[in-house]
Amino acid sequence: MSAHHVPVLRDSVVALLRPSAPGLLVDATVGLGGHAAALLGADPGFRLLGLDRDGEALELARERLRGYGNRVRLVRARFSELPRILAELAEEPPAAILADLGCSSLQLDDPGRGFSFRLDGPLDMRMGSEGPTAADLVNSLDEEELMRILWNFGEERRARAIARAIVDRRKGGPLTTTRELAEVVIQVLGPGRRGRVHPATRTFQALRIAVNDELGEIERFLEPAVDALRPGGRLAVISFHSLEDRIVKHTLRRLEGRCTCPPGLPVCRCGATAKVRLLTRRPVTPSPAEEAANPRARSARLRAAERVEGDA
Ligand SMILES: C[S@@+](CC[C@H](N)C(=O)[O-])C[C@H]1O[C@@H](n2cnc3c(N)ncnc32)[C@H](O)[C@@H]1O
Repeated sequence: MSAHHVPVLRDSVVALLRPSAPGLLVDATVGLGGHAAALLGADPGFRLLGLDRDGEALELARERLRGYGNRVRLVRARFSELPRILAELAEEPPAAILADLGCSSLQLDDPGRGFSFRLDGPLDMRMGSEGPTAADLVNSLDEEELMRILWNFGEERRARAIARAIVDRRKGGPLTTTRELAEVVIQVLGPGRRGRVHPATRTFQALRIAVNDELGEIERFLEPAVDALRPGGRLAVISFHSLEDRIVKHTLRRLEGRCTCPPGLPVCRCGATAKVRLLTRRPVTPSPAEEAANPRARSARLRAAERVEGDA
């Protein structure tokens, strides 16, 4: 991603979050600062607190957002740490919170980060610099645990066969590179057909999600983020695959106060109360023109909600 790459669904993000200005804008995944720059540029009343777990991305964001001077503060952190960060740094509840989930092109396109089966590199896949790498997982987990990761996070139908092949392969020495892992998958699934999804796609997605605890991060982030917003404040989340989007959709529906009592009860017993009003009944998706210009945008889904007035 070049420093001036247009961020995914930029105009929709601005349209959904701008009405909450003026106030504190938290970009929980500031990445290279594309959305942050668009929002700071759209409304002079926004001040930014930008988070990212990737220190390298933060340095690039710092460069890109330099022109906004002291309206910008950047912190290296996981977004599940948002309540602590706000308690330490924010003088007021946020007016808007954005999360643009997943990896940046900076991460995906750098062979040294080990996210891509198309580029040979160390089997790492960490967005930050702490915790176990993908190599640690594939070389230490047992077949059952590997199978569960591939099945749950990659929706890989041949999860069992691939897990077994990994365990067999590492008897000859640890797997250390992306190419070695891609070759094991290809041995099981075949080379795939030109123009189709690469056979290792689901295995790499699964390991990346496990290495970074991506779904756990989203689960721990969403409700505290809503709770942190000021009344009338807005949350927008962009997801890139169904596992992420399902968590976002279900959490926002629950926080919308939909009663979850079994049908037929004369009065509500679940005590559902509304914390948010949904701003997107259906997810916002990119236009054909945006998809053509940016293939990565193809699977993006944007959902947004507004904190209900007077219920903070
Ligand atoms: C798709 S990119 C964001 C791009 C950004 N919106 C822009 O316009 O440049 C996602 C970013 O989120 C970061 N990230 C992913 N999970 C995170 C987490 N749990 N906590 C903090 N940052 C995270 C990644 O390191 C990456 O830089």
